[in-house]
Amino acid sequence: MVAALAKVTFSVLAESRFLKRVASRYGMRQPDSFARRFIAGESVTEAILVAQTLERQGLTVSLDLLGESVASREEALRALDGYLQAIGEIERAGIGRNLSVKLSQLGLTTDRATTVDNLRRVLDAASKGEFFVRIDMEGSQYTDATLDTFETVWEIGYHNVGVVVQSTLRRSEQDIRRVNKLGARIRLVKGAYREAREVAYNRKADVDAAYVDLMTLLFREGTYPAIATHDPVMIDRAKQIAAASGVRPDAFEFQMLYGIRRDLQAALLAEGFRVRVYVPFGAEWFPYFMRRLGERPANVGFVVRSVLREKL
Ligand code: FDA
Repeated sequence: MVAALAKVTFSVLAESRFLKRVASRYGMRQPDSFARRFIAGESVTEAILVAQTLERQGLTVSLDLLGESVASREEALRALDGYLQAIGEIERAGIGRNLSVKLSQLGLTTDRATTVDNLRRVLDAASKGEFFVRIDMEGSQYTDATLDTFETVWEIGYHNVGVVVQSTLRRSEQDIRRVNKLGARIRLVKGAYREAREVAYNRKADVDAAYVDLMTLLFREGTYPAIATHDPVMIDRAKQIAAASGVRPDAFEFQMLYGIRRDLQAALLAEGFRVRVYVPFGAEWFPYFMRRLGERPANVGFVVRSVLREKL
């Protein structure tokens, strides 16, 4: 109940222009400014530096150029250029070749044909450099369009691409079966968006129970599952189910967000599991940042303390 309320509150606040202005002013300007706890920086150069530090610890990375729900084709083209530039810079830097993209950033909010074109251009550049590209999953109004677009590019022959499924959605078992049939990779998450009860479970216990069921299906029938959670209970269950299904530690990976549960990331590595960290960067960091606050309202205290410290 409290968790659902926090999600609603922060997704409403994420629309506030005033908060966005204040956050943009203070969030990134110093090396220890509050937004840097979760966001690598505004430029790809900063993200690469963070990625290099993580890789030195034995972690792998997926870089995400932040941005979503663009309002025009021109904005979608700017996002496309940002991704093409990032691909070049990642290649030059020699870090892991793995990207996460949001389709609403590439045009899904304007039209589907533009999105497919833009995604294909990202995938063409990515294939040349042997990158893997993960299509993030957004709010449920985009689930069908995201899966359809994913399937379209898969059928054209792009197989360096995977998708995300959210355990909060009631439909997810069917979606997993659909993607499993293609032999494509899924990242399983709980889901970060505010959703209506008709389409989603709202109680944490139900979202968690669905997560365990879906993870079981993925370990039995899926391809290289990505178990993306910071929840120690889910992580323990993942280890048990993988072992019981005969899935070896090199046939799946755990994934976590940059700046969250670094202790767990290190512990899993030490146990011999693969851990990938999602490294977001870019000027459009505010909605992503607000979702992280909504997941754990205690983070607000950390932000307030950082702002006060900077103003003193
Ligand atoms: P849960 O929310 O139950 O939290 C478990 C524990 O994790 C907490 O008790 C706390 O210790 C820690 N924790 C969780 N969130 C925290 C935070 N913000 N700050 C500090 N500690 C925190 N969602 C989506 O809808 N589409 C997507 O494409 C993706 N992609 C994605 C990639 C990766 C690599 C990850 C890890 C997550 C996503 N998500 C996502 C986000 C996901 O849906 C979910 O909102 C968050 O991971 C939080 O849920 P947990 O599974 O961590 O569990």
